[in-house]
Amino acid sequence: MKKEINPFDYAGDIIKALPAGILLTSEAEDCVNAMTIGWGTLGIEWGIPIFAAYVRTNRFTHDLIERTGEFTVCAPLGKLTKEAAKVVGLCGTKSGRDMDKLAKAGVHLVEADIVRPPAIKEFPLTLECRVVFSQLQPINDINRRFEKFYVPNTAHSEPHVAYYGEILKAYIIE
Ligand SMILES: Cc1cc2nc3c(=O)[nH]c(=O)nc-3n(C[C@H](O)[C@H](O)[C@H](O)COP(=O)(O)O)c2cc1C
Repeated sequence: MKKEINPFDYAGDIIKALPAGILLTSEAEDCVNAMTIGWGTLGIEWGIPIFAAYVRTNRFTHDLIERTGEFTVCAPLGKLTKEAAKVVGLCGTKSGRDMDKLAKAGVHLVEADIVRPPAIKEFPLTLECRVVFSQLQPINDINRRFEKFYVPNTAHSEPHVAYYGEILKAYIIE
């Protein structure tokens, strides 16, 4: 069962969960994927509720969102359990290009109501999002304070694309 919510009533839960990692699912053709995100912004632009995710261009997730323009944000309610932390670890270190992370994690997928990427029972706080704007963040335009996030010839060399997803529906899976 899904209990519909106002996402801003759970802003604290979402933002506080981010540093430990929450999940973002994406889907194209037959491929469903989840990646861990530690950065994100919840707010309002153009008079609509927005979740902005920041995805490096080398992520498989980037390819999937570019193809479909949809993603689902899946956060834990309360403290991350040991089991959920393992899923966050797996989805934050392996690429969906190489394996089916969600099958490996053994989580239960729940069909989303509006978008294609699924929700996840074990990460019940859910935002279904459709991209209304996206923008590459050129590394040269970013304050030098943050250059440690962009180290040439490493897994962290690529810039981020900011995906502004309109929150079409928000709920808690019960
Ligand atoms: C705690 C944590 C937070 C992360 N946050 C982000 C993020 O906000 N943006 C990003 O591009 N990668 C982030 N990553 C790295 C991706 O989750 C990781 O590269 C993942 O393997 C990409 O999966 P994919 O290739 O299937 O998309 C994070 C990893 C961890 C462990």
